[in-house]
Amino acid sequence: MTNWTPASWRAKPAKHIPEDYPSVEKLAEVETTLSGYPPLVFAGEARRLKQRLGDVANGKAFLLQGGDCAESFAEFHPDNLRDMFRVLMQMAVVMTYGGGKPVVKVGRIAGQFGKPRSSPIEERDGVTLPSYRGDNINGMAFTEKSRTPNPKRLLQAYAQSASTLNLLRAFSTGGYADLRNIHKWTLGFVANTAQTKRYQELCDKISDAMDFMAACGVNAETVPQMASTELYTSHEGLLLGYEQAMTRIDSTSGRWYDTSAHMLWIGDRTRQLDGAHVEFLSGIENPIAMKCGPTLKPDELIRICDKLNPNNEPGRLTLINRFGHDNVGKHLPALAQAIQREGKSVVWSCDPMHGNTLKTDSGYKTRPFDRILSEVRNFNDVLHAENCYPGGVHFEMTGQNVTECIGGASAVTEGDLSSRYHTHCDPRLNADQALELAFLISEDMRGQRAADTERKAG
Ligand code: PEP
Ligand code: CO
Repeated sequence: MTNWTPASWRAKPAKHIPEDYPSVEKLAEVETTLSGYPPLVFAGEARRLKQRLGDVANGKAFLLQGGDCAESFAEFHPDNLRDMFRVLMQMAVVMTYGGGKPVVKVGRIAGQFGKPRSSPIEERDGVTLPSYRGDNINGMAFTEKSRTPNPKRLLQAYAQSASTLNLLRAFSTGGYADLRNIHKWTLGFVANTAQTKRYQELCDKISDAMDFMAACGVNAETVPQMASTELYTSHEGLLLGYEQAMTRIDSTSGRWYDTSAHMLWIGDRTRQLDGAHVEFLSGIENPIAMKCGPTLKPDELIRICDKLNPNNEPGRLTLINRFGHDNVGKHLPALAQAIQREGKSVVWSCDPMHGNTLKTDSGYKTRPFDRILSEVRNFNDVLHAENCYPGGVHFEMTGQNVTECIGGASAVTEGDLSSRYHTHCDPRLNADQALELAFLISEDMRGQRAADTERKAG
């Protein structure tokens, strides 16, 4: 790591970083301004998350990572943040109950703006403009002005991330997340769905158990953790100029931390061993992740692991797998075998979203609920067969009542997609679909727990 600096990525080939800013000087000015702004997260928090993820790597906890595909300036509203927070909390309760393990909660939130795009340009009716790349770079509107990258957007993204984090911290520790409030986390628009009924039944059981524990002297006064929660933030470490500006030396450890989020990940399109993104993430001390798609080769994975986690520290590196529901069996076994053979410590997480996107006849990008569930189940089966622990899931989701993914118990149909299709990039699970998945995954975890207990006993 001797040659690493927060700027060493600049000498490497960098994909998906815009080069068409009208003024490089203005961009550099904004980056200098940002480097003098307060950190958004603290090194100690990132260290705590790494520890929690170390528990996941060792099979003692479970990772739930989820949030928007792309946050936007337009959808920035306290109600949206509250709803996202609520649905993540509901899912975590359901999974904790099913898995009998702590659930580490990480949002794709408070900084998830920049997007790698399959094409740098978009054509409409004979007009060609740069593609939309996320609100921190350019605007969605199909005009030349809006699609031209504007460095001031980085300052707005920083400000939005800061106030998002402020609200999340208040929700986490200010009483809202108190376990005695679990009944109240239900979202208004899903009041009568099957998932909400199921959730309320589960809350009744948990409340009974808490009454019993309180009678034994265990309550929020004796165990303060019951009155608050930990929610960590994450985003794709894509726009390295911004990440560099947010990277500071921690005075406690003397090491470099990227203070834009607790956890950063490298996308499937920017994970080249000798590329800028792997270089940058290799030098920060935060817990990091990498997306693993169908083109990743086992030996390549091992070399990237050596660069990103040379000390084989548990919790440092999460592999977020995203092959597509019918491709898991083709790609995952060889990767899992290589990791096992080399004795690498990783968190195995499943992103069942990005390999399961399709376009409907009417032109909407969508993801079928059944395929999402099927990818998670195939992922679990393959890893169990390879003696690895499937430790996490990664969802694109929202607390809103959108119609972007089809299927689920409340059956969003292809015809429904046009009614509430709001995403700024990829289709997200709505709150009801997200909670339904949490229940289905939690049932599988319960089944696995019973099988493990039986095996140990036998
Ligand atoms: C994403 O997570 O939004 C994304 C672009 O994923 P991937 O890198 O896996 O394609
Ligand atoms: Co996405």
